[in-house]
Amino acid sequence: MTTIAVAGGTGLAGRAVVAEAVAAGHTVRSISRHLPDAAHRVAGAEYVRADFCTGVGLAPALAGVDALIETMDARSGRGLRALPVMSVAALGAAARAGVGRCVLLTIVRAGECSMGYYQAQAARALSYEKSALPTSVVYATQFHNLVAGVFSAGAKVGLIPTFNGVSFQTISTADVASVLLAEALREGRGKASVVAGGPDVQGMRELAETWKAATGSKAMVVALPLPGSFGSFLRAGKNLVPDEAVGNETFSDWLGRR
Ligand SMILES: NC(=O)c1ccc[n+]([C@@H]2O[C@H](COP(=O)([O-])OP(=O)(O)OC[C@H]3O[C@@H](n4cnc5c(N)ncnc54)[C@H](OP(=O)(O)O)[C@@H]3O)[C@@H](O)[C@H]2O)c1
Repeated sequence: MTTIAVAGGTGLAGRAVVAEAVAAGHTVRSISRHLPDAAHRVAGAEYVRADFCTGVGLAPALAGVDALIETMDARSGRGLRALPVMSVAALGAAARAGVGRCVLLTIVRAGECSMGYYQAQAARALSYEKSALPTSVVYATQFHNLVAGVFSAGAKVGLIPTFNGVSFQTISTADVASVLLAEALREGRGKASVVAGGPDVQGMRELAETWKAATGSKAMVVALPLPGSFGSFLRAGKNLVPDEAVGNETFSDWLGRR
């Protein structure tokens, strides 16, 4: 049995990792700034409070940990500016605590998009790659939740947005969690870099029609332009890794399960 800490264990991806690691019989500690209520905890996991931005609580949170999986996130403002620093802090605290392996979840080809959020993701991956610790960086494609979230937000005002010329290879957080856990358990002190793509490449319109049918939404599927660096990134297919389709759960299966 291994003691695994999940930095960001209360988040979308982190919760899936905590659940997967508990189910596999490991001792699991979720670390975040806020503690979830009982209804949002995975039974059998320990929940501790620590802040990778300020450093408060990190030493006790990482004491006795064999492997750290980092699934923290921040999308804007000060949090986003601090995100690369949080990864550096995680690696530093892990080194001091004698953690055997650190695993980072980030996004496929983030460094090839000039958008601030993607640049922050690329910076954290670089910190892991350059760290003297044994590390694994898992580069995942967009989650099913992300695309479904775009559809559901638009449907509230009657329109399900799709972007011209854009496809996704969405993956479930459960499939990502399996990859992250396997990396946490990787033997040896070497570095690893893993790409995790969803099972299918699908046009955004096809995904929207699937979402509409599954949810019974009456909103209209509309095609919109997506300007800017993120639009260029997506239209160039840089979010796709068809040769690394490791995920099992399709968008349609995932919608059905929900
Ligand atoms: N969304 C996608 O499609 C996608 C695709 C591929 C990869 N990813 C990767 O997945 C990662 C996780 O995304 P997510 O959607 O699961 O994130 P999320 O749901 O927003 O969760 C973020 C987690 O980080 C914790 N956190 C934030 N700041 C913290 C701090 N200073 N100290 C301690 N914990 C902190 C949050 O808890 P508190 O706020 O309570 O601290 C929460 O548990 C992203 O960084 C990204 O690299 C995402």
